[in-house]
Amino acid sequence: MKIQIINGPNLNLLGVREKSIYGNTNFETYLEELKKRFADIEISYYQSNVEGEIINKLHEIGFSYDGIVINAGAYTHTSIAIADAIAAINTPVIEVHISNVYKREEFRHSSMLAACCKGVIAGFGMDSYRLAIENFSA
Ligand code: DQA
Repeated sequence: MKIQIINGPNLNLLGVREKSIYGNTNFETYLEELKKRFADIEISYYQSNVEGEIINKLHEIGFSYDGIVINAGAYTHTSIAIADAIAAINTPVIEVHISNVYKREEFRHSSMLAACCKGVIAGFGMDSYRLAIENFSA
């Protein structure tokens, strides 16, 4: 089974950025844990701060992978283009968020992507990614 994790803008700064919201761990460290936990799954990771690059990645792997876990960061709330890309591909996508976006500013309460996704997981810290992979592997 092949699963792609895609992190969008500012998520390269996990472990540095707003630690009270996003925690102290950088994603690369957490990814090692995930790879150990799901040793039988091929987990690939891609991060970009650029909307078009995220779309290109979705196109590239979205017809061959078994699942995509995407945290599109702030693009979640704005990007019709990423929503269209998710709708265009065959691979199911789960939207994840580290923080509970519904406890935060109103502009974080809406997602352009959610309606095109298999489901949404938000508010469990980094564990949101594990829960999404559990779903694909179940
Ligand atoms: C986030 C929530 C978004 O609102 C925010 O713009 C992010 C991170 C999260 O993982 O909690 O960059 O997607």
